[in-house]
Amino acid sequence: MYKVIALVILCASTFAAKHQCNHRSALIILKRPTYDFSVKLLDRVTQANDGHFVYSPISTWLQLLTLAEGAHGQTLKEIWNVTKHHRLKCFRRKWRAILNRVDKDLKSVSKRRGFMIIDKLMNVKKTYVAEVERLRSLQVLLLDFNYPVTAADIANKQVESATNGVIADAFTPYDFNSTVLLMADTSYYKSSWKIPFNTAYTRSEPFYSEFGTNVGEVYMMNRLDYFNYTEIPLIGAKVLEMACGSDGKVSMLFFLPTSGSIRDLFYSLQRVRLMSIFNKFKSSNITLISVKIPRFKITTDIDSIPELLYDMGVKRVFHPDLANLRGISDYKVYASLMAQVSDIEVNEEGVEATTIADFLISNEVTKEFTANRPFAFLLVDKKTEVILFSGMYSVPSKY
Ligand SMILES: *[C@@H]1O[C@H](CO)[C@@H](O)[C@H](O)[C@H]1NC(C)=O
Ligand SMILES: *[C@@H]1O[C@H](CO)[C@@H](O)[C@H](O)[C@H]1NC(C)=O
Ligand SMILES: *[C@@H]1O[C@H](CO)[C@@H](O)[C@H](O)[C@H]1NC(C)=O
Ligand SMILES: *[C@@H]1O[C@H](CO)[C@@H](O)[C@H](O)[C@H]1NC(C)=O
Repeated sequence: MYKVIALVILCASTFAAKHQCNHRSALIILKRPTYDFSVKLLDRVTQANDGHFVYSPISTWLQLLTLAEGAHGQTLKEIWNVTKHHRLKCFRRKWRAILNRVDKDLKSVSKRRGFMIIDKLMNVKKTYVAEVERLRSLQVLLLDFNYPVTAADIANKQVESATNGVIADAFTPYDFNSTVLLMADTSYYKSSWKIPFNTAYTRSEPFYSEFGTNVGEVYMMNRLDYFNYTEIPLIGAKVLEMACGSDGKVSMLFFLPTSGSIRDLFYSLQRVRLMSIFNKFKSSNITLISVKIPRFKITTDIDSIPELLYDMGVKRVFHPDLANLRGISDYKVYASLMAQVSDIEVNEEGVEATTIADFLISNEVTKEFTANRPFAFLLVDKKTEVILFSGMYSVPSKY
């Protein structure tokens, strides 16, 4: 009898230990659903933007989670079904704290700021605003939607100052017309390599389409060095890692297709984990590679996020009659607009200008990674495997 009780207690306590709400378990539990959501969404963003864009999938994940905090019933179930966020608030808070930490580490080169703008006549619940503020996911603005011009003006000023002027005019007065809840996310990233490219080797070179047609010119950056590099037949691409910042926490992964179209990349990435790519790097050692990547800047403004999410199964929250956001307001509230403006700038610059890499003299037969045709990139935090920014480049310009 006592043995049975002891066994039950033992089982119960190991269960509790396994599911204790702390940073470590939150990371283990939420890493994978966040990645799955991100690549599924990126696949849809790719198709909607013709293979040339920058997007921050983690921002959309957080937008949905913010809505989830105020959602009930089927509306909540649909969001949960797609984000697989944790049902316990404690885990969600821990995960958010981890992500805030990542943002903080990146603050000199990146800024991400989300806004939820609600008509102040909707009597938004104070408990909801308090929870959102506690998560520090985004800023809640309560504005008078009866004056759309003023509302747009106030919102735009907030966005502009939050992004240090990088993003202006995110909203138009039209966005505030006959709606009650808008969400907008703004973010930018400016590359800062661990080892900079030497500008002396940057030159104008042709850029080709996936079919080999010359479609324009780019300023091609050059570097010969040892990199983490691998080929992954499962996704039909070769992958190169370039370390960002001095501490090695964040890297940019570049993908060039070896077979098939770059547009299928995010679909294929659903079959692998970032961890398996990093493990492959480890097992193949660093490789001497001649790298050519264009200097570029992309700004993408996407307001069709509800359509993309609808396609993934999140429907009710965007529906005027079916949305159940009782946690936000007792009035009928639904998300009428969900938008994201992202901006990325990639050039030769590094953390320290003094450590400019020079061409190594080498007799080794070197591999090449020449991004003179459509390629994709992921900016990832290596520990959390969170995709901070991602995008594709296929429309050349001399930036
Ligand atoms: C959850 O997802 C599954 C499979 O994708 C689907 O069959 C189910 O209807 C979804 N449930 C809700 C409430 O959306
Ligand atoms: C808002 O909508 C109404 C009617 O649909 C229209 O007359 C008005 O011009 C719109 N206002 C703005 C600022 O777009
Ligand atoms: C290669 O990857 C390993 C493991 O992630 C890392 O420690 C190392 O710094 C990377 N090397 C380069 C050159 O990026
Ligand atoms: C990895 O590559 C470096 C540079 O080529 C070489 O010095 C080292 O021995 C290699 N290590 C292994 C385990 O192959």
